[in-house]
Amino acid sequence: MTSTILRSAAETARHAPSIFNTQPWRWEVRGDALELHADRSRLLPVTDPEGRMLTVSCGVALHHALVALAAEGHRTSVERGVDGDLLARITVTGTAQPTGTNLRDAIPERHTDRRPFADTPVPDGFVDRLRDVAEARGVYVAELDADSLVRFQVTAARAGELDENDVAYQAELAEWTHRPASSADGVAPGSTVAPTPRKVPLRSFFPDGAEGLLPGPGHDGGARYLVLWTVGDSPADWLAAGEAMSAALLATTAAGLAVSPMTDVVEVPASRAMLHRLLDNLGEAQVALRIGVPATSDAVPPTPRRADVIAG
Ligand SMILES: Cc1cc2nc3c(=O)[nH]c(=O)nc-3n(C[C@H](O)[C@H](O)[C@H](O)COP(=O)(O)O)c2cc1C
Repeated sequence: MTSTILRSAAETARHAPSIFNTQPWRWEVRGDALELHADRSRLLPVTDPEGRMLTVSCGVALHHALVALAAEGHRTSVERGVDGDLLARITVTGTAQPTGTNLRDAIPERHTDRRPFADTPVPDGFVDRLRDVAEARGVYVAELDADSLVRFQVTAARAGELDENDVAYQAELAEWTHRPASSADGVAPGSTVAPTPRKVPLRSFFPDGAEGLLPGPGHDGGARYLVLWTVGDSPADWLAAGEAMSAALLATTAAGLAVSPMTDVVEVPASRAMLHRLLDNLGEAQVALRIGVPATSDAVPPTPRRADVIAG
């Protein structure tokens, strides 16, 4: 019985976003526990040599599974950083009032929206809500306000330039943007956006111009840019950053807002150093998020997911 509950949570967590849609995880139902393992065969050696984004992605999947369990009224305990690639072990410890059903419902609805957002402002207080959900996990949110936005723009442009001229990175990107349909992974061409002038440039997925989505009428006028950061920079911090990222993504989707992660600024060492200075050397940037009001009601198409990630 418990195994059915745990398997169902892992099924829901298959929707989790991940770096280049690598889905670098494996779930195992073992007795009364659900184990989350990192799948290092899916590490991106050029983009993510240390496995930071791999671990952040696993943290997102972990949070998705916990949201699914809480929404079904299951109380859980979680052991994090169990042993090497065994990143977390979830145990169901009893029943509780169902919570966060809006977040659970947002899981299949959430898609990375790379189109420019509308000029309409994000509702007052929304960023503060995200700050609270992140801080509950020991992760801080720095908002790039008008003064720091120019420096962030330069940082993002620098990451883009360095990536553009990095032959090994371009080869890795091409591999993950040209996956066979049977692999059910990789960045879906239909989810990327044709180049368009933007306040802050985004990672370019198809430098050869094979993008799928039209940018639409937005100009990112009302977009807000947030950096999720931690005091330390260990795998435990990366996992926590992933959980906070998931909480922010699902809260954003549940509020009818749009969001896209921006992590080239963290991956490229030179731009990461610039981000560090932008944070006044307070801590370690883990991910950046662009949040806003969608400029069009046209849906972003869903991206593929692997079926064979759950064992036991
Ligand atoms: C850790 C992490 C880093 C990501 N970095 C970027 C990024 O820099 N730029 C981007 O457009 N999308 C980024 N994404 C979004 C993924 O590309 C996206 O989740 C994946 O392709 C699946 O699509 P979906 O989010 O629509 O389900 C990131 C996602 C995660 C979890």
